[in-house]
Amino acid sequence: MTTTPEGVSLGMPQLPAPDYPDDVRARLEQDAREIVARYPDSRSALLPLLHLVQSEEGHVTRTGMQFCADVLGLTTAEVTAVATFYTMYRRGPSGDYQVGVCTNTLCAVMGGDAIFEALQDHLGVGNGGTTDDGKVTLEHIECNAACDFAPVVMVNWEFFDNQTVRSAKQLVDDLRAGVPVEPTRGAPLCTFKETARILAGFPDEREGAVEASGSAGPASLIGLRLAKGEAARVVHPRDGGPHDEAHDGAQGGAAPRDTAPHDPSPSEHLSSHDAPQDTSASDPAHPAGPTAEEGE
Ligand code: FES
Repeated sequence: MTTTPEGVSLGMPQLPAPDYPDDVRARLEQDAREIVARYPDSRSALLPLLHLVQSEEGHVTRTGMQFCADVLGLTTAEVTAVATFYTMYRRGPSGDYQVGVCTNTLCAVMGGDAIFEALQDHLGVGNGGTTDDGKVTLEHIECNAACDFAPVVMVNWEFFDNQTVRSAKQLVDDLRAGVPVEPTRGAPLCTFKETARILAGFPDEREGAVEASGSAGPASLIGLRLAKGEAARVVHPRDGGPHDEAHDGAQGGAAPRDTAPHDPSPSEHLSSHDAPQDTSASDPAHPAGPTAEEGE
């Protein structure tokens, strides 16, 4: 007989999902009211509500989906369709720490594939597998727009930049041993259930969490500086000159990877893609808009 990850038998009539204990349901209903009140149409609250029930049990259970359906006046089929579509909703029990290794193109070639393979061997689990102690669930993830810090590992959606096989092994060892670890940037790490509650839209009340989140790293900000026409200064430190933080890699001080000699002239460093381009505003000989003939 075929079953879903939640243990639901396919092709067989389903028993009603068991309900939450009264105290849990009362607490969740209070939270749900707060979430639903944020939206003009209650069904728009489904995504945060799924995070809410995920924060209760660590994954989206049949009970959680029934709860969402009850609160929003939806069918369980409608809720299930959403919960099974998005990969951020777990459909079965898993670890306190979801360790995601980016294996999209840039991270893959920068070492992400090697890290993922090494962690599979090190932890003895495959993609989506959870260690026996229930601490770590390993999975490969798609690009998280942190390519300038490749290869990237995310733990409960917090960034660990510029990883190596060795650092990634140390990271999962520390997570399993209960040794505190700090993301390279952003908010402090918390458990998957705590993360799910934050994703449901409740404030992160841990000390320093708000101050630590919300800023881009230097390597990301270099694109903004280039777009504004501020040429990046890229004299490498080994050449005896000052250097731009973007070429340091992570904030944690990862060694620069590029080995090509740097030209000390910023204007010559920029590629045709990087350099500020001529536009109609900067080229009066070629103004934008219709020509005199076209305008007649
Ligand atoms: S390819 Fe890994 S973060 Fe973009």
